[in-house]
Amino acid sequence: MKTLIKNGTVATASDLYKADVLIEGEKVALIGQDLASRAGAVDRTVDATGKLVMPGGIDPHTHLDMPFGGTYSSDDFETGTRAAAFGGTTCVIDFAIQPSGGSLRAGLDDWHKKAEGKACTDYGFHMIVRELGPETLAEMDALVKDGVPSFKVFTAYPGVFLVDDGLIFKALQRSRDNGGLIAVHCENGPVIDILVQQAIARGDTSPRWHALTRPPRLEGEATGRVIALAEVAGAPIYIVHVSAAEALAEIRRAKERGVGVTGETCPQYLCLSTENYEEPGFDGAKYVMSPPLREKGNEQALWAGLKLGDLSTVATDHCPFTLKEKELGKGNFAKIPNGAPGLEMRMSLVWDGGVKAGRFDVNRFVEVTSTAAAKTFGLYPKKGTVAPGSDADLVVFDPDKEIRWSAKSHHMRVDYNPYEGRVTRGAPTHVFSRGQLVVENDKWLGKTGAGRFQKRAARQR
Ligand code: URP
Ligand code: ZN
Ligand code: ZN
Repeated sequence: MKTLIKNGTVATASDLYKADVLIEGEKVALIGQDLASRAGAVDRTVDATGKLVMPGGIDPHTHLDMPFGGTYSSDDFETGTRAAAFGGTTCVIDFAIQPSGGSLRAGLDDWHKKAEGKACTDYGFHMIVRELGPETLAEMDALVKDGVPSFKVFTAYPGVFLVDDGLIFKALQRSRDNGGLIAVHCENGPVIDILVQQAIARGDTSPRWHALTRPPRLEGEATGRVIALAEVAGAPIYIVHVSAAEALAEIRRAKERGVGVTGETCPQYLCLSTENYEEPGFDGAKYVMSPPLREKGNEQALWAGLKLGDLSTVATDHCPFTLKEKELGKGNFAKIPNGAPGLEMRMSLVWDGGVKAGRFDVNRFVEVTSTAAAKTFGLYPKKGTVAPGSDADLVVFDPDKEIRWSAKSHHMRVDYNPYEGRVTRGAPTHVFSRGQLVVENDKWLGKTGAGRFQKRAARQR
């Protein structure tokens, strides 16, 4: 199968130039001028005049079919990866979970079962670590070799995912030696728990109290703490879903000291604020996620962090729950399942708020939505760029195409959209997953189960 994408502007993290792109089978075969005369017979031609041809988005932070907060996230690998593709994301890295009292391998097997035969685009896994004895440390080495070289630990959610500093330190030391990478959810869980109990006892039970009991200072504190652990361990560290300027400041200071720290933020922290918790009725529950949304104005620091490189990536932390599921926390905000949808909107929100708003250029857009994640998580140059030999995970992107976001028209399996009514400029017209055209405007052309598990490379040491 040969596809010629002609007359487009190829955009990578470093270059921007007019060229045709020839796809042969699953790979990019040729990039050059006037390829029609050299390509021979092609099966399909896509005219990309006025459009960009960029690497498919990579979202390194999703929770598909995840048991959490007394229910399951409402998108599974089929609906989640399909919605992702509509939004221009062609690869996700989801979080497998070590079962309580069980092995990492058992958790990984569970996630392979969830994804196989369902995922519509390619996917990889990180591993959430909850317990870490000598056997689990040895399992970490094995997982790194088996293409799962990144691990997430939490300083939040006591009784569910929270681990202590000793465990984090041991995991960091191990990853320093085995080529893995530790990713951390940074909030001070035990202190937040006290604030939550006090709020509930006072009768402060509405969704806005979710944010008020998780102050930004406690994200900054936990971020600074785990960076210190990484520094002493001599290991790199990746801070997930950075929401607060206080946490970003810790990352910046650590970078200045030469620490190998990278950080990601998410569209919700760039585009929403605590004002959303004031929406009428129980609608504030739509935005209950951890860390929570922050005060208006905080987002400017995050956009600047992306521009300047203190933050490398925009992921989604996609973890949707339906309104019915959110109602588990009616009368007690602490029982609202934590998480919100974002997979389908990510690329358009970042284009609109980043490039269209003049905050950064096309190259930086490609970097924060695709290339940096590919490099950090061992997928590059198979994915994350447009180059001969790379996977033909490609997006033909119309920089001016408008979308009015609505739960009525989005493709995610959730009955609300946090950006309901918002219009973004910039969206895909054609999306290819390993050479297959899977999305053409509003049409789904892909296949359930066509996505493949991606073994990722260990960090270069
Ligand atoms: O609220 C969130 N973020 N839910 C998903 C789990 C996590 O903390 O990443
Ligand atoms: Zn988290
Ligand atoms: Zn998450």
